Amino acid sequence: MRNKIIVGNWKMNNSSSESLELVKKINDLVVWKSDVEVVVCPPSVYIATTVKEIKGIKGCQIKVGAQNGHFESKGAFTGEISCAMLIDVGVEYVVVGHSERRQYFGETDEVVNKRALCAIKSGLTPIVCVGETLAERENSITEEIIRKQVKLILNGISENEIEKVIIAYEPIWAIGTGKTATNEQANEVCKSIRNLVYELYGEKVSEAIRIQYGGSMNGENARELLSQSEIDGGLVGGASLKAEEFSKIVNSAHNDNN
Ligand code: PGA
Repeated sequence: MRNKIIVGNWKMNNSSSESLELVKKINDLVVWKSDVEVVVCPPSVYIATTVKEIKGIKGCQIKVGAQNGHFESKGAFTGEISCAMLIDVGVEYVVVGHSERRQYFGETDEVVNKRALCAIKSGLTPIVCVGETLAERENSITEEIIRKQVKLILNGISENEIEKVIIAYEPIWAIGTGKTATNEQANEVCKSIRNLVYELYGEKVSEAIRIQYGGSMNGENARELLSQSEIDGGLVGGASLKAEEFSKIVNSAHNDNN
């Protein structure tokens, strides 16, 4: 059975004191069990302090991820942060190819592929985001679009490396809009991603790889979404900023709850 993973993407939110307050509260409210991993992704300036703060909270099992990581190890890339630097400050996960990076910063599947490859080689676990627009869904080309994205992003990732990858299916029309994909829609796309992984890497890998859903997941809808057979966790934006909501999502991800 695949362990679930709930990732809080704070985006460009929270001050340093709010970050500390949030992780403390999450730790108080979450029921820690080994079947669910919990990750928070603070803005880059707060990553190092968040790692330290978490270490200082007794029993806290929150891991830290970054919202982005560059594909070169160092050099003249103003404003970027390398995966080696992220490792250096205690980061374990990195989100790559979030739709906001694609939309506002022009990231293509090719760039996302380079970031994912570098993350793996550096020892980080990439959380690779894919998703269709509303127009693509309405034109019934969701599966085609997702397959294309996943294929391009996984290009060059070997069978040994793919096990470290997490894929997040995030329909763009559901991100930050309050419109969640139905359980069936979300499960169907996650299933087609798993089928593609089967075609590319075989059964063992396709059974092991974790596929998350993201897009307006909250404390109310999480249990149903997370109980779908192909959904192995959530990438959570807005609701990850509220300790009660986020903890409710984590607690509903435990095996005995879905
Ligand atoms: P949301 O964001 O939960 O606010 O819809 C999800 C995401 O962007 O990963």
